[in-house]
Amino acid sequence: MTSPRRILVTSALPYANGPIHLGHMVEYIQTDVWARFQRMRGHEVYYVCADDAHGTPIMLRAQNEGITPEELIARISTEHQADFADFQIKFDHFHSTHSDENRMFAEQVYLKLRAGGHIATRTIHQAYDPVKEMFLPDRFIKGECPKCGAADQYGDSCEVCGATYSPTDLKNPKSAISGATPIEKESEHYFFKLGDFEAILKDWLQSGAVQSEIAAKMNEWFESGLHDWDISRDAPYFGFAIPDAPGKYFYVWLDAPIGYMASFQALCTIRGLNVFDDFWGATQAERNDTELWHFIGKDIAYFHTLFWPAMLSGAGLRLPTTVRTHGFLTVNGQKMSKSRGTFIMARSFLNHLNPDALRYYFAAKLNGSMEDIDLNLEDFMQRVNSDLVGKVVNLASRTAGFIGKLFDGRLADELHDPALYEEFVAAGDSIAAAHEASDSARAMREIMALADRANQYIDQNKPWSLAKTPGNEAEVQAICTQGLNLFRVMMVYLKPVLPNMAKQVEHFLHFGELNWESRHELMLQHIIQPFEPLMTRIEQTQLNAMLEENRSTMPEASEAAVPAPVIASPTASIEPIAPTITIDDFSKLDLRIARIVKAQHVEGAEKLLQLTLDIGSETRNVFAGIKSAYDPKDLEGRLTVMVANLAPRKMKFGMSEGMVLAASGAGAPGLFILEPDDGAQPGMRVK
Ligand code: 2FM
Ligand code: ZN
Repeated sequence: MTSPRRILVTSALPYANGPIHLGHMVEYIQTDVWARFQRMRGHEVYYVCADDAHGTPIMLRAQNEGITPEELIARISTEHQADFADFQIKFDHFHSTHSDENRMFAEQVYLKLRAGGHIATRTIHQAYDPVKEMFLPDRFIKGECPKCGAADQYGDSCEVCGATYSPTDLKNPKSAISGATPIEKESEHYFFKLGDFEAILKDWLQSGAVQSEIAAKMNEWFESGLHDWDISRDAPYFGFAIPDAPGKYFYVWLDAPIGYMASFQALCTIRGLNVFDDFWGATQAERNDTELWHFIGKDIAYFHTLFWPAMLSGAGLRLPTTVRTHGFLTVNGQKMSKSRGTFIMARSFLNHLNPDALRYYFAAKLNGSMEDIDLNLEDFMQRVNSDLVGKVVNLASRTAGFIGKLFDGRLADELHDPALYEEFVAAGDSIAAAHEASDSARAMREIMALADRANQYIDQNKPWSLAKTPGNEAEVQAICTQGLNLFRVMMVYLKPVLPNMAKQVEHFLHFGELNWESRHELMLQHIIQPFEPLMTRIEQTQLNAMLEENRSTMPEASEAAVPAPVIASPTASIEPIAPTITIDDFSKLDLRIARIVKAQHVEGAEKLLQLTLDIGSETRNVFAGIKSAYDPKDLEGRLTVMVANLAPRKMKFGMSEGMVLAASGAGAPGLFILEPDDGAQPGMRVK
């Protein structure tokens, strides 16, 4: 037996400013399936990840919520980890880039690069918000597209005509933070001289570390020249200060991949492992054949196949063994969209559906290439019902029933068709090769072909009809024993994809843990546990409920990367008037006078108060984001205005059944709830 491989595997680090959605889950499921497969093969695997916690959007979002960035990233980390755990993503460790380990490694890497002469400084001109007093990233400048004139476009590209440009090309540019017109201002920036690493990157490319599509891209990048990379940002910025550079911070993308090292270091500390250098040492001798695998999406290939290996090399560290890149997720054939309700949050899915079902569906689509994959909800339902419930679970249920009823759970002394069993075992090599190549689509196809074959075998041998005639008991027992052994082999192959179901099956078969080698072990003369349904059919009503919840809980902050205006001078921050609506549009709103009968704090909520509102005909429970402006006891008894026909929103703390109206902005800090004139009564309609 060859010695086990030693593999450190990572998925890209999710930004700590928004929830995990199904687009993210493609990658975590792909990586987790691969890592679980490797563990099942007996290899030494460490799967680490972290939240990507730095950068301007996180800083501004925290300001917007009236909390510190540290508070924001702590909250998001809890949410992310709960989503991952519930999807059975089995990280060995989940860390944060805002951590002591990451600061230490970021400084070390930077100082090595500087000592090697790979850092340059230059003065650059950049858009600056004179009101907010900060430089503006491209995404925080909005204006009219220089090409098609479309209003309200970001500083880097137009969503209407697809043009890309620089923010200085925008017509009537405005800061998306304060609304002020940006000015141009100069500042000294720090650059990483990527071009110094061209030869090393070309060598690395030859090592077969990337898919052919990425290799072709890298060659294009080499041809168009490797430019210096701007790794600094000016204060105010949420990140790590650059050593010896007052007021300058590392750009979030500098310390993000270093987060892979930080997370692994934290894991080593937690487990008392002395293997860090085995995985990150520069020389083959130090590394002793360890492997470093990064799973990423195609949008961040540039960072992982140019900047990151170049940084590692410049810092005297190892290069990745493999960067495996996947495509994007579309839903029902189109880009995920908030307005179509297809921007599906991981939590909305988990609240209504079995995570194993999505794991299976994505696994059945991912073929190790960079093609986009589509989640068609109709197809998802049919495929899971037909493959997992109709073929795999059905095989167990139709055979276990007889074993339980007629033989007290005892399996036969021998198989009915040993050759068929051997075929199933032999298929493991090809399925393993597919898993290895992240071609889980092929693995799932081959497993489903086995499932068809096994069901065909049962259909041909008809244990239900044999069982009607006394004297056939031994044959019925042997046929069903055969079916359950075939089922067990299939579950070995499916275990990386269906960890929940595999656990239930381990309990049901009561025959030890399923691992890759255990497919050779025959279950004979063995007592199984009573069969319990392993997975139920997905119903359309579950999909509808998931979509409905998703619509009503969609977080506003992820609607756009840009938060609402924060503070500003009086004229600069008056929000522009929204596009015109018709009287019919307006009449859809049912605004009512409401009496606040009760107002209270909500445990764990940063911004919310819980209000009980009397609207004449009924009372409503509403969570309102007005905690920063009101003491609950000052609100009780007051009249205000609420939107009474807003769809109920399921929030973390309970159901919110409407919304109270409050004003903000125009340069004045604070929030102001609306109050009617004397004489108004709860329940009156506001028109
Ligand atoms: O694109 C993203 O979502 C980044 N947060 C990924 C970072 S991956 C790694 F480099 F940290
Ligand atoms: Zn345009």
